[in-house]
Amino acid sequence: MTLRTTIVGCGAVAQRLYRKPLQALDKSGLVRVHALVEPVAHHAETFGAFFPKAARYADLDEALSASQSELTLILSPAHLHSAQAVKVLQSGSHVLCEKPMASTPEECARMNAAAVQAKRVLAIGMVRRFFPAYAQLCRLLQDDQLGRLLAFDYREGHKFDWDVTTPAAFRPRREGGTGVLFDIGPHAIDHLSWTIGDLTVSSYRDDALAGIESNAHLDVVSRACRGIVRLSWNDPQSNELRVIGERGEAVLRVGQFSHLAVRRSSTFEPQRIDVSFAADAEARPKRRLTPGNYQEAIYCQIVQTIRAIALSEPPAVDGRSGEACIALLTDALTKAEPQEMPWLQPAHQSAVRRLHWSQRA
Ligand SMILES: NC(=O)c1ccc[n+]([C@@H]2O[C@H](COP(=O)([O-])OP(=O)(O)OC[C@H]3O[C@@H](n4cnc5c(N)ncnc54)[C@H](O)[C@@H]3O)[C@@H](O)[C@H]2O)c1
Repeated sequence: MTLRTTIVGCGAVAQRLYRKPLQALDKSGLVRVHALVEPVAHHAETFGAFFPKAARYADLDEALSASQSELTLILSPAHLHSAQAVKVLQSGSHVLCEKPMASTPEECARMNAAAVQAKRVLAIGMVRRFFPAYAQLCRLLQDDQLGRLLAFDYREGHKFDWDVTTPAAFRPRREGGTGVLFDIGPHAIDHLSWTIGDLTVSSYRDDALAGIESNAHLDVVSRACRGIVRLSWNDPQSNELRVIGERGEAVLRVGQFSHLAVRRSSTFEPQRIDVSFAADAEARPKRRLTPGNYQEAIYCQIVQTIRAIALSEPPAVDGRSGEACIALLTDALTKAEPQEMPWLQPAHQSAVRRLHWSQRA
């Protein structure tokens, strides 16, 4: 089975993370990249050079009226995801849409309704679901190996260095939240909800004044325990998830594929990683893969989407999970407070508080 596949958006994520897995899948015959939708000619040329047989379109409507796809990957900026996914689903194509699923829960709901109506798969790209160490931690908690959970602490931050090709990720909006919260936030919240269970936000603070937030602090609650989430685009963090239970503690380094440490007595021990993912679309996979880098994880994510289409397996992240993630991030914004800045003089602190987006009428 070969799925005629369209790529919508040929920017940084397409070039850096999707290009190699798509070439491999194209070679193996699971997909045939037959159309690219990209308004910037230079991006279409850079990406299209690797898929010389793919037709190039500057506009999605033009592509939809010219050809029919079975699978469409939406890799465009987040504010376009909902309208594009709805059109694509209505055209009869299945969709794998990069994170964040959309900008608001309403946009997500429209995507889910379109998928149900068209009877098509809507999968959300959350590549970290295919990081073996992340899946191992999830399994460890499901197996109750840490006992009753007491707390968790998630910190992810470093100087922003993703070489985006357009400024779309830096669009301020009245209700906040287009900076780090909707960039790293979906990865963090999806991972935590998957690992620890459904979360609700008890408080949220960020540092956005006239622009977008570079730092976001969430205090969250699950059925089991409380936790904190600290995200930053400019303040280096410990970059780890620490989960503390009655019988032990686990530490996962953010972005690590194969390292997970667990303490059951006084010292931390490395945990054996034995997770793998289907690497083909056979009902009984002939090949499995333990991803060791982003491209291999993306490869498994696309294969999982193909398996959802061909074998009715659930995608790793479906539209309902994607919507729940955006609903949580949106709920955080309704609770927004200015982040404390104790390094400023008291008079400056109150002046800065007044400038915070949440304080404006
Ligand atoms: N999974 C990950 O780790 C990861 C990493 C980076 C980005 N992303 C996500 O991928 C998406 C794209 O991010 P990026 O970093 O590639 O951004 P980018 O700005 O570099 O690329 C977006 C591309 O979409 C194109 N585009 C703009 N309008 C379009 C339209 N109407 N139709 C089709 N294409 C259009 C742009 O010209 C550009 O080439 C975002 O949702 C982002 O959050 C995910």
